[in-house]
Amino acid sequence: MIELKDVVYCRLGTADLAGAEWFATNILGLEVSERRRGAIYFKSDERAHTLCYFEGDPADQVTAFELGRGEDLQTAAATLEALGHHVHYGTREECEARLVREFIRFRDPTGNSIEFVVRPETTGRRYHGTRDAGITGFSHVGLCTTDAARDEAFWTSVCNARVSDRIGDAPLMRLGTIHHSIALFPFHKAGIQHINHQVGGTDDIQRSFHFVSDNQVKITFGPGQHPTSSAEFLYFTGPDGMTFEYSTGVCEIHDEPLWRDRQFHFEPKGFCKWGSAPRIAAFDNAKGGDGQG
Ligand SMILES: [Fe+2]
Repeated sequence: MIELKDVVYCRLGTADLAGAEWFATNILGLEVSERRRGAIYFKSDERAHTLCYFEGDPADQVTAFELGRGEDLQTAAATLEALGHHVHYGTREECEARLVREFIRFRDPTGNSIEFVVRPETTGRRYHGTRDAGITGFSHVGLCTTDAARDEAFWTSVCNARVSDRIGDAPLMRLGTIHHSIALFPFHKAGIQHINHQVGGTDDIQRSFHFVSDNQVKITFGPGQHPTSSAEFLYFTGPDGMTFEYSTGVCEIHDEPLWRDRQFHFEPKGFCKWGSAPRIAAFDNAKGGDGQG
C-alpha cells in the first residue's frame, strides 16, 4: 500500500507565462514565491509553493502527492513498476525545480501525470496574496478518468485513498481527514479537471463571485453548496481553460472505521444544495458524470 499524506502541488504548462502570472496573482489571488527561467512558482499557504506555471504545452499537467520517507518512495516505485507503470526517477535538477528532496513520476491508469514526492519544502511563512481572496490553502484536485471504477481501484487499492462519497460514478476520495483530496471525473482523456483552494468563509465566496464576474472571468458553477462535503463553492475558468475552485467549510471525517461512503445521484442540481448547475462545456459529453467535487 502506497501511503499518500496529501496533495502538494500542481504543475501546469502554458504558452503564455505572463498571462498565467497575471491571472494567478490578480484574479486567483496567489503569491509569487519565486521566478526562474521559464517558470513561476506560487504560494497559497505556508508551503514553499503549491502551483507552478512553466513554459510548455498546456496539456502537460502534473499533480503531486507527498509520501512519508525516502524508503517509501523506493517501495512505491517498486509497486508501480510491478504493476507495469513506467516510473521516472527525478534527477537532482528536477528535484530542485520542484523544491523536493526526491520524487518519482508515472502515469495513472487514465494517463494523468502524477508525481510522488518526499520532503517538499515549506517556508514556515504565511501566504500573503496580492488581492484579498481569503485563501487559506491549496486543498484538492479533480482528475479526469476514462474508467472511474478502474481508477478508483488504483487510488484505493494501490494507494491509501478512501472513498468518502460518489456522485454518479465519480468518487470523492480522502487521504487524511478532509472529505476529499482527490476526485475522479469521467471524461474521454486525461487531465486535471479542477484545482481547489480553500478560502476563509462564505464572505470570501460571495466577494470573489462579484470580483471574478466584474473582471469578465467566466464563472462555470456557483456560488453554491455541495451536498457531499457541505463545502460552499465557486468555480471559474483560468488560463488554458483550467477550472479553479474556491471552497469553504469542507467537512472532515474523523470516525474513519464507521464512515460509509454515500451515493449521490448524478444530475446537475444534485451537485448543489442551492440550485446552481455546472456549466462546463468540456464535460457535456462525459459518460457517466460531469460533476464537480
Ligand atoms: Fe472541488
